[in-house]
Amino acid sequence: MHNVRLYELFGICIFASQKYAVLVQLHDLTFTPFISEAEINAGIEEVATKVNADFKDKNPVFLGVLNGAFLFAAELIKRFEGDCEVSFVKMSSYEGTNSSGTVNSLLGLNQSLKGRNVVVIEDIVDTGNTLESIDKILRAEEVKQYKIATLFYKPESYKKSLHIDYVGIAIPNDFIVGYGLDYNGLGRNLTQVYKLKETDNMTNIVLFGPPGAGKGTQADILKNEYDLKHISTGDVFRYNIKNETELGKMAKSYMDQGKLVPDTVTIDMLKTEVRNDLSGKGFIFDGFPRTVAQADALEEFLNEEGTQVSAMIALEVDDEVLVERLLERGKTSGRSDDANEEVVRKRIKIYYEETAILKQFYLKQNKYYGVDGVGSIEEITERLKEVIDGLA
Ligand code: IMP
Ligand code: MG
Repeated sequence: MHNVRLYELFGICIFASQKYAVLVQLHDLTFTPFISEAEINAGIEEVATKVNADFKDKNPVFLGVLNGAFLFAAELIKRFEGDCEVSFVKMSSYEGTNSSGTVNSLLGLNQSLKGRNVVVIEDIVDTGNTLESIDKILRAEEVKQYKIATLFYKPESYKKSLHIDYVGIAIPNDFIVGYGLDYNGLGRNLTQVYKLKETDNMTNIVLFGPPGAGKGTQADILKNEYDLKHISTGDVFRYNIKNETELGKMAKSYMDQGKLVPDTVTIDMLKTEVRNDLSGKGFIFDGFPRTVAQADALEEFLNEEGTQVSAMIALEVDDEVLVERLLERGKTSGRSDDANEEVVRKRIKIYYEETAILKQFYLKQNKYYGVDGVGSIEEITERLKEVIDGLA
């Protein structure tokens, strides 16, 4: 809640979609973005068109079901083009995130509906218990006819036989908040819909280390040890360029001009990689993020999938040791950038300049772990495992 409010207060967002990627905390539960304002509006338009067609000349009574339907009722009624009247009833069947099974009428009708055309306006139809109670009330009132309009509908949960005439958006059986819907009183004012965050069992490691720290070796070991997917930005780039994907072609066009590939292209490539492996145990990110913008984007698209960065782990190795290692490697590897001491020192310097800001970024979130990168491969692996095992 807080985050969303802050963005709105300042009236800016650095990334257009960032506001929508922010997790929302209501009481003890966390929610992730689910249905955008645009999608909600499209659903409302669709219902409004049909209601207009069916009731324009029938002077209907719109019967809003409080509390949740107040926003939808307002939007739907604003779009109605004929004469109409408006009434509300208040029902309650939910406690927390579960239907209690019994529906209480908390605020009854204050006008007779005998012989009237009625349009019931619901925020959401879940089990259908509420609708059944409304049906009883309307039958007792001897209305001429009534139709049901609901903004959201959970077909998998619906157990009744009453026909639902107008549905804005059908959704899976998730608990949602926002746009009138609440969790224990909170969340009704959110302008888009969020759903309950699934428990996050993923381990997502951002692995850092200066050139020569043994990052690749350790990533390979950890990936097998924890069944994680190793995403190396370099590999992702090479794969996309080699296979001439749209993003690969775009990246190449910048590289051919000697320009840096823009963050958005890199981010989209990484996003695709992540989306392809969401059912796994998690990821090791290697060579990404490199900038705060990338770190924000990573957090954003992981959040969208109900997960997050678990830790940034940085292998720490003294500069002199690195220089020695790289020069040693240069003698045999044939990599020209390993052979020259000046070049090697420059690469190390660039690494620290680049990553210092990211270290701050993750330190602030208590997610930064420095690990001593001097020792045998096995010793270093043990130190890394200690950090990862401690994350759970
Ligand atoms: P039903 O009686 O089970 O159909 O549920 C209808 C009422 O339950 C709605 O009017 C809401 O007040 C509440 N409800 C059902 N599903 C949700 C949800 O996902 N989020 C918030 N409230 C819900
Ligand atoms: Mg309701």
